[in-house]
Amino acid sequence: MTTKTALITGITGQDGSLLAHYLISKSYKIIAPTRDNPDKSNLELLGIDDKENINFLVYSQWSDFEAIISQHKPTEIYHLAAMSHVGQSHENPQKVFDVNCNWTLELLSYTLQHSPQSRFFFASSCEIYRNDIAHPVTEEDEKKPNNPYGISKLSAHQMVNYYRQVKGLYACNGVLFNHESELRPNSFVSKKICSHVARIVKHGGEPLTLGNIEAKKDWGYAPDYVKYIYSILQQPHAHNYNVSTSELHSVKDMVDAAFSALNYPISWQGKGINAQAINAKGDIVVSINEKYFRPLDNRFLCGDNSKIKAICQDFSQTPFNQWVKSMTTHEWNLLD
Ligand code: GDD
Repeated sequence: MTTKTALITGITGQDGSLLAHYLISKSYKIIAPTRDNPDKSNLELLGIDDKENINFLVYSQWSDFEAIISQHKPTEIYHLAAMSHVGQSHENPQKVFDVNCNWTLELLSYTLQHSPQSRFFFASSCEIYRNDIAHPVTEEDEKKPNNPYGISKLSAHQMVNYYRQVKGLYACNGVLFNHESELRPNSFVSKKICSHVARIVKHGGEPLTLGNIEAKKDWGYAPDYVKYIYSILQQPHAHNYNVSTSELHSVKDMVDAAFSALNYPISWQGKGINAQAINAKGDIVVSINEKYFRPLDNRFLCGDNSKIKAICQDFSQTPFNQWVKSMTTHEWNLLD
């Protein structure tokens, strides 16, 4: 029996809940600092909201983590808490930088000071890379973020490098490409597509309205990604890793996969802002609205995942159509 402990920041989010679920299956004790009255719905969905392996602690300000780390000296620290909306980051760059970078720096400094033997994982983002690289990007490729979210993540990423290279901490960046699951909030396009498609197929109603459907992402399934994240902290030496699939799919591909999962034929007409999808009766089921377009969208960024593939003993990659089907069916089952 292992006596390992893992501190997870952001345990109530998609990745935090899935990671906690995975670590509990490996008999970890989880330290879970949250704000007062956290929303535990993701943990409930996974059946782990009242597990005795999870020690929920309430913190009121970020500096409380100094005492938490000093007292618990966790074997591993997974820092996942963040402001994670690329689109919204244009509205409030200062807050995004504070949460995503300054809070990470504080955690690194508390770890070095009070628990230097802890292994530290930071959820970095593919938004740090230059967005016009034609080949699948490796961990060494050029970093050149073009939005406040990416800038904040790159600054934190470099702080993690500094604490590893100069201060000697076992600190790693997992550069996470888009990853989705049944636990995604509605503001992300995967959840928006899968829930709306399920509603249209079951009850009809308003068309699904999207922004740039030609945008392509390296999209993976979050339950796969928590296994990769775990494996990053199990290596003899600390490194940075891309967490990605090395495959690109468009927003339009996701719409097609979601309708197809429910055996509902659609066809596309028009291009760009005039594109629309119609059903077999000729009703419009998908339309485009300019208000959902992003300035400087990272459209064709694909991550070379050979480094993580080589080290993850539990590596598996759920195919795109399969997880979109799983998410859409999940939404279908939630409807009356
Ligand atoms: N949200 C949204 N809504 N996105 C849309 C829509 C829409 O109606 N229509 C098209 N898109 C396109 C966006 O322009 C973007 O290119 C793509 O769908 C995915 O958008 P999101 O699901 O909102 O994710 P994201 O790429 O902005 O951010 C996620 O991935 C990053 C890694 O690239 C988040 O998980 C970030 O935290 C993460 O770092």
